[in-house]
This record gives sequence, C-alpha cells and structure tokens, in this order.
Amino acid sequence: MKVTLSVIKADVGSIAGHHKVVPEQLEVAEKVLSKARESGLLLDFYVTAVGDDIQLIMTHTKGPDNKEIHDLAWRAFKEVTDKVSKPMGLYGAGQDLLSDAFSGNLKGMGPGFAEGEFEERPSEPLLVLMADKTEPGAWNWPLYKIFADPMCTPGLVIDAKMRKGFIFRVMDMYEDKFVDLKTPEESYEVLALIGTTGRYAVHSVWRRADNALAAVSSTARLSLMAGRYVGKDDPCLFIRVQSGFPAMGEALEPFATPHLVAGWTRGSHVGPLIPVGIKDAKCTRFDGPPRVVGLGFQITKGRLIGPADMFDDIAFDRARQEANRIADFMRMHGPFMPHRLGPEEMEYTQLAEVLKSLSSRMKPAKEMLVVPA
Ligand code: 13P
Ligand code: 13P
Ligand code: MG
Ligand code: MG
Repeated sequence: MKVTLSVIKADVGSIAGHHKVVPEQLEVAEKVLSKARESGLLLDFYVTAVGDDIQLIMTHTKGPDNKEIHDLAWRAFKEVTDKVSKPMGLYGAGQDLLSDAFSGNLKGMGPGFAEGEFEERPSEPLLVLMADKTEPGAWNWPLYKIFADPMCTPGLVIDAKMRKGFIFRVMDMYEDKFVDLKTPEESYEVLALIGTTGRYAVHSVWRRADNALAAVSSTARLSLMAGRYVGKDDPCLFIRVQSGFPAMGEALEPFATPHLVAGWTRGSHVGPLIPVGIKDAKCTRFDGPPRVVGLGFQITKGRLIGPADMFDDIAFDRARQEANRIADFMRMHGPFMPHRLGPEEMEYTQLAEVLKSLSSRMKPAKEMLVVPA
C-alpha cells in the first residue's frame, strides 16, 4: 500500500524559558490526533517532543501537502497553545503559529514539516531525526555523509540498489527554489550549495535505481517568513533505511561526530550537535547545546511500531563528551564570530537595531577628529 508519513513540528511554548515542553501539552496534542485516528483521517500517530518543540509523527493515505492533515496539525498546536501554554503562562506560548488566519497549508505559517509518500515495503524500517536549537541546514552534512560518502556508508559501494547513487533535491531557502543534483557525478555541485547551511538545505533524497523516496527534511525558514526574530526552525527529517537504502547504522553513523551547527542561544551561535536519548532531549547550557534525537520505527500497514530510542546508547557517549569539549571551546569566544553567527544571519535579531542606532555616528575618516571628543 501507499502510505504518507507526515512529521510536523512546532514550538508553542515551553517551561523555564526555551527548555522543554510539559506533559500536559503532549496530552492535548495526543487527544486531537486520537480523534483523527478514530475518524479514519490518520492511520496512526506518535506524539513526542525534543526540547521545546512538539513533534507530530503521523501516517495516512492523503499524500503530502494535504489540507486536512495540515489543518489537523494546526488545530493540535492551537489547542495546545490555548488549553495549556497560555493558561500556564509558558514561555513563547504559540511562538511558531505566525498567523491567526490559517489558510489550509502550513507553508509560511510557522510549523515545520517533512512529508513524503511511498510504497510500504514488506518490512519498512525508518529513522525520524528531530533537533532543537538549530536549523534545517544542520542536516546537510549528515545527509551528504549518509547518501553520498562511501566512507560513511559502504552500502553505496556494495549494495546494487544504492550503487547507482541518489538524487539530492536542494532548496534555496532565500529564493524558495529547488534543484535536483545527481550523486556521485554531481557531488561537488551538491557540496558547493549545501556547504552554505544558512541558505541551502537538502529538501529530499531519492534513490536513482527506481526514483524511490529515501529521505525528506523540513526546509522552511521561519525567521525569513516572519521578518523578525522568532527562534530558529528546529528541524525534523525522516530517512527510510535497510534493503536498498542505507542501513540504520549507516544513517546514525554521522552523528558519532558532533558537527558544528547554527542555533544555540538566541538562534545566533554556532555549536556542536549532541546526539541524545529522549530523556536528555532538553536544552540547558547556553540554551543548548543543540540536540538531536533519533527515533526508529517500523511502518506496518500504516501502523507505527515503536519507537526505538536510537541515540540512547553507550556507542554515542564519546560523541557526547566530545560535544561538551567543543562547547567549552566555542563558548570561550563570547560574542565573537565564528561562535556568534555572521551579520547576514543576525539580520532579524536586535543586533540590527544596535547597528541602526549607531548609523548617524558613522563618519568618513576625514570628518573624524584626531582625538575623540
Ligand atoms: P528573550 O528573553 O527576549 O525571549 O530572548 C532570549 C531568548 O531566549 C531568545 O529567544
Ligand atoms: P527555540 O528556537 O528552540 O525556541 O529557541 C530559541 C532561543 O532563542 C533559545 O535561546
Ligand atoms: Mg522556544
Ligand atoms: Mg526549539
């Protein structure tokens, strides 16, 4: 059967700053989705959270970008905001719901979504990755490793279905444009774009042998849509694994290296991405460091079997220690780049106002007194 997986997430408020959601928020979201499963709109769902972001993982048969599904997610986030976040006075209540007038599609409305339709295999394992305190470009490096780097993924060399390579659909988040690039032969073009993580993000990955969908990420940029600082677009991503796709272990492998991503406090700093189990999916030090959780599922006749908490394992202990060491080093730089993001990324923060307030005092050299007045 053809099944659609929709992972839709939003930050609609959290306890103790941008730390984490409260259980009551998840309960309200679960109730809304339960009703939708009873009515037949959803095949199944799983509600979870990473830090202050609620994640709705849903299966159905409506295809991506479906009005009823987007409306359902919007209603769930709205009810959580109205019934829990606002009455409890949680921080940033309703943060990611940019408009009161929902138009039937989540694009440009605030919540992030990764959606894809595929023919369910006899056994359909997949990995859902969800991160807090970072942005969609954070997936670029791991996605390249997983789908284009044989040093990470030996399947690219020894699995007949993978050896033809993958297509990377890359999005220009400034221009809202897409380009399809073929690996291995266009690997350098892929890298030329996705190395600019604040602008280009991998939207999806497709297997060339049969054009099967392999991975989909949430690619919108909330900050660009809102035109002011509203937090980073903490991203989600799903990857189909095994039998002709990367092995689960190949999909997890890049996260053994805590690579540097943009986000962290005030969405304005560079720091390491720490792989954690659900119990540690909450941000503390300097509002971070940025975290990633990986949940494994089987989809069976549309049912979600799981999850398995993939980073809750000693094999990732060294990555966590390494990330903490990197965090010390990066923090030492205080408000200096490259710990603080560059000016183009700071455009929507209050740094722009500091620059504006100084603009009338900026003078050409010849107008400056030799000794300051
Ligand atoms: P505020 O305290 O003004 O929200 O800013 C700090 C922060 O955490 C940015 O979201
Ligand atoms: P979130 O994007 O997770 O809400 O974090 C905002 C922030 O500024 C934390 O310092
Ligand atoms: Mg928040
Ligand atoms: Mg968040």
